Formats: sequence, structure tokens, C-alpha cells
Amino acid sequence: MQEMAREQWQSRLGFVLAAVGSAVGLGNVWKFPYMIGQNGGSAFVLVYLLCILLIGFPILVAEWLIGRRGQKNPVNTMTEVALKEGQSASWGVVGAMGVLAAFLILSFYSIIGGWALKYIGSTATGAFTGLDGAATGAIFDTFLADFNGLLLWHSLFMLATMAIVALGVSWGLELASKWLMPALFVILVFIVGYGAVYGDFAQAARYMFTPNWSLINADVVLAALGHAFFTLSLGMGIMLAYGSFLGREVNLLKTAGIVLGLDTFIAILAGLAIFPIVFGNQLTPSAGPGLIFISLPIAFGALPAGALIGGLFFVLLSFAALTSAISLLEPVVELLEERTRLKRIQATVIAGLVIWGVGIASILSFNHWSDIKLIKGMGVFDTLDYLTSKFMLPLTGLAIIIFTGWFMRQEAVREDLELSVSGFKLWQILARFIAPVALLIVFLHGVGLFGS
Ligand code: TRP
Repeated sequence: MQEMAREQWQSRLGFVLAAVGSAVGLGNVWKFPYMIGQNGGSAFVLVYLLCILLIGFPILVAEWLIGRRGQKNPVNTMTEVALKEGQSASWGVVGAMGVLAAFLILSFYSIIGGWALKYIGSTATGAFTGLDGAATGAIFDTFLADFNGLLLWHSLFMLATMAIVALGVSWGLELASKWLMPALFVILVFIVGYGAVYGDFAQAARYMFTPNWSLINADVVLAALGHAFFTLSLGMGIMLAYGSFLGREVNLLKTAGIVLGLDTFIAILAGLAIFPIVFGNQLTPSAGPGLIFISLPIAFGALPAGALIGGLFFVLLSFAALTSAISLLEPVVELLEERTRLKRIQATVIAGLVIWGVGIASILSFNHWSDIKLIKGMGVFDTLDYLTSKFMLPLTGLAIIIFTGWFMRQEAVREDLELSVSGFKLWQILARFIAPVALLIVFLHGVGLFGS
């Protein structure tokens, strides 16, 4: 009896680590702060928190619930669970769109992963010692203009991701996350402390948390919604696939609460680490994707042990990026393996090389192709981010929550969620009405099909 209990606890811990490993990544530390900066500060933060609670939470639970029933890859899971519920097999399309999104996201995610790798060395060797914001900004700009440099680091990051997926050693990384994630947390807290002493912490807190409703508009809401999906790894079947490892004994609602809480906590902490430095050094919050690579080096260059701490920070960020990247490559490889005759290693090499190649277009958009604009005046990198975060992930999420709320036998869903009748009423209000309706309104608004 005691044995059993311990085993269950361990399996749940392993699962939480894997899920948090996928969720916590560049989305929290790199993307969240610059999205805040580009979308009006607190307006974005507040809408983002609402999106996490009202939309992200039920969809995370729904993905695990379906995944635990299906026990297969995302496409087959959706197809089979739909058939079992007496619904059409075409629900499998939902899983397929997710895999396409993973493919596209990884192509640009790997580039930022490469930036993190590159900054390990720059920081550790003291390249930023004593520099101000103008100087760290100039270093970053020079780096962006250097096509060969970006290509090298993108290639290294992709290679590391491919090696781990090919060897199937992701369990080792889960083990590592047990130590590295808390370490990342400690360093973030340390940087928050630095910002509180040397930066403008008060203005940062005001910027992130003082409600300013007038700044909320359709673009901000769509950005916040898209980011809620991105940061929780939702809408592309990752959590669906992870759900297949979940035992019956794991309480989905509680576990979702833990993953969501940790992910949000790390993101907010990253914001509190970066903005005091941004405001203390007269940097612009809306600087875009380079924000953390311009602001944090100032702190690392100013402190006595800054080179060491900064180097360690980028090591940990690279690991967080790697655990997320693995979760992006895995479904693409799995699908290839199951649908073709390719072996795991071959499938990984082929998928990895194609994704790497597509990534080159994003690299070019930072230098040689900086004048080429695709949609809404955005270059390749921003367009890929836009299409995936704001279109594909929310659409897949919408399908998943509608399926769970309206097309599955509700009594069985209630049992899966271990809810009382009245608790389940609440869940149904969320899953059947609030989440899908909010998702639909935000989405139609954002793409400009509905009002303005
Ligand atoms: N959630 C990760 C991050 O915040 C990125 C990521 C990993 C992701 N897997 C995903 C995003 C699946 C969307 C879908 O960095």
C-alpha cells in the first residue's frame, strides 16, 4: 500500500516536471516581457492573466483529459476519442494542425535559443562589463546583422534539440529540470533584487500592474490570448500527448493549477527582473524581441560577480529553451515515425533539417531580408509568430474545448474530473460558454472579421 502511494507520487512529480519543462521556456523569460512592452504594460498583463484563468486553464485540462483517454499521438488520439464518443473521425484534423504549428514555432524558437547560447559566452567572458544600455544595444544590433553568427547559433541549438530527441533521452532532461528550474528561479529572484536596488523598481511595478483600461484594445487582447497559448504549450497537441502518460490517480484540475501557477509565476518574475533595469537605464520597453538581451547584460556588467551570475543565467535559460524545444520537435518526429517507414533517428534528422532550413528565412529577416514584409508589414520572423500564436494555437484550442464541452458524454467527463455535481456545473459554464465564447470573440476581433 505504502509502495503504491510512493509510486503514484513519483509519477505525478515526473509528469509535472515534464509539463512544466515544456511550458516554462523562452515564452516566459524572453517573450512575455517584450510582449508587455509592445502592448501597453499593465493592460497586457491583466488581460493575459484573465486569458490564462478563463481560457488557458480549461483547455489545459481538456487536452490532458482527451490525451489520457486516447493514449496515442495527437492525431490518432483525437480521431479515436472522437469515434468512441460517436463523433466524426475528422476531429483528427485538430491534431494535425497542431503538429504543423509545432513545426513552424520551432523554426523561429530555435533562433532565440541560439541567442541564449551565444550570450552564455559573451556574458561569462565579461564582454558587458561596465556597459550602459546604448552599448549593450549596439552589441545586440551588431549580432543581429551578422547572418553567419546567427546561423551558427541557430544550428547549434537545433543540433542539441535533435540529438536529445533522436536518442530519446528526454527523461534525463526532466531529471535536470528538477534542479535547473529552481536554479533559474533563484537567479531571477536575484536579478529582481538587483533591479530593486539599482533600477527603477517602483516604475516597473506601476508599469506592470496599475490598471490602465484605456490601453486595452483588440490587438492587446489578441496578443495576450495568443501568448497564453504559447506559454502553456497549448493548442498543438503537446499537452494532449503528455496526457497519455497520466495515470487515473492524478487529479487533472489540481495538476493543471500547479503547472499554470508555476508558469505564470516565472513569467511575472521575469517581468519584475527586466523592467526595473529597463526604466533605470532609460531603455524603451517596446524594443521588441531583443529586450532581455539588451537590458539584462547591463546588470551582469555592473555587478562584481556579474560575469559568473550572468553566464549561469544564460545557461539556465538555454536549458529551459531546450526542454521546450524538445516538446516541439517530439510530435513532428512521432508523426513521421508512425506514418512512414522511417526510424526514429532518420525521422529526427529529416524533421530537424527541414525545420532548421525554414528557420534560416527568419534569420534573414533580421538582416539581409529586413525590407521584405509579408502580412501586416511584418517580416518572416514576426509573421511566423503571428500565424502560429494568434491563429493556429487559438483555433486548435477552440476545437478542443468545444469538443470536450459539447461533443463528449458529460457524465464521463465529470467522473474524469472527479467533480461533484455542483462543481461540475461550474466547469461546464467555463468549458461550454465562457472559454469558447471569449475565444471566438477575441479571435474574430483580432483578425478583423468582427467589429473593430
Ligand atoms: N511553452 C513554451 C515556452 O513558453 C514554448 C512551447 C513549447 C510551446 N511547446 C509548445 C508553445 C507548444 C506552443 C505550443 O517557451
